[in-house]
Amino acid sequence: MTTLAIDNIGLLITNDPSLGEGPLGELRDAAVVFEDGRVAAVGPAGAEADERVDVGGRCVMPGFVDSHTHLVFAGDRSEEFAARMAGQDYEAGGIRVTAMATRAADAAELERLALARRAEGIRAGITHVEIKSGYGLDVEAEAKSCAVAAAITDDVTFLGAHVVPAEFESDPDAYVALVCGEMLAACAPLCRWIDAFCEVGAFTAEQCRAVLEAGRAAGLGLRLHGNQLGPGEGVQLAVELGAASVDHCTYLTDADVEALAGSSTVATFLPATDFSTRQPYPDARRVIDAGAKVALATNTNPGSSNTTSMAFCIALAVRDMGMTVTEAVRAATLGGAEALQRDDVGRLTPGCRADAITLDATSPTDFVYRPGVPLVRETFIGGTRA
Ligand code: NIG
Repeated sequence: MTTLAIDNIGLLITNDPSLGEGPLGELRDAAVVFEDGRVAAVGPAGAEADERVDVGGRCVMPGFVDSHTHLVFAGDRSEEFAARMAGQDYEAGGIRVTAMATRAADAAELERLALARRAEGIRAGITHVEIKSGYGLDVEAEAKSCAVAAAITDDVTFLGAHVVPAEFESDPDAYVALVCGEMLAACAPLCRWIDAFCEVGAFTAEQCRAVLEAGRAAGLGLRLHGNQLGPGEGVQLAVELGAASVDHCTYLTDADVEALAGSSTVATFLPATDFSTRQPYPDARRVIDAGAKVALATNTNPGSSNTTSMAFCIALAVRDMGMTVTEAVRAATLGGAEALQRDDVGRLTPGCRADAITLDATSPTDFVYRPGVPLVRETFIGGTRA
């Protein structure tokens, strides 16, 4: 089997404290060797291998693990965004606009659009991605969206409970019954996860509970959108049900923070959303200091976060959420892996997937110090240049 060494690394972040210094397991003057799609070895520069990439003293780190995206959609909501920048509030109902365009697009068109977004994310260093459905909102379009997502990742999330579609406006519980019944049956075979949007204008905590319990009975792991646009019951519900992750966490009470800290549910922050909806940024410092697990994700979607840049999320997290660079880098890599309950990605430990990025920088501090600059030089997925 051919081996590839990324060599002459000035700073190698492994995310494995047993391999190097500090919480990120850092090594200086290092090399990492890939074989058969996996990390084979990590050690001093000058590694033996069949092929060698000399990064000239730059930084190498695990690729970003983006644990929250909505990559499968058609249409555009730039006018809604412009109106928001002019002072209008963000509302969950905009999801219906994208649902109309997504229903109208065939699977081939949706796949073309999703793959273009995935390619953009790969260029920006995202080596593993979770993808939600949620812009179909009927059985056929949700199943179509899940199938498109499943062709791209093995972390597909069924989000039929994204918002109540217009045709069920007068009877939201009938829509919840459809989600828990026929829609779930059509989508579950394509998915690993189920999610729901617990928010005013979307679904109540009791409706979300019904959806998540039905998903669990169908063999899916649980995730939840919660506490995005105001305080709510999402975090408490996610913790009570043992969800892998509760996402957004913009508005947290002391009781929410305490619940997260006493649980294995990851608090996933989506700061590009708060940027684009003009919400306050979540206080990540408070959540980390309480002892909860945290992740950062892009939340790529056409309404509230139309970006594939994890570097942008790291910059916001450090600039506006009280995270250190070390915490933000960990949250965007290993934190995402934890939110997806995976131990094969998010770190460069021998045996893990050979997913790494080389930077045009000597340290990840540049994600914040040089905001907006494309600092990812090369992306390797499964040991291959992507
Ligand atoms: O995570 N919060 C719910 N879903 C998306 C927004 C989707 C939209 O506005 O289209 C989010 O922000």
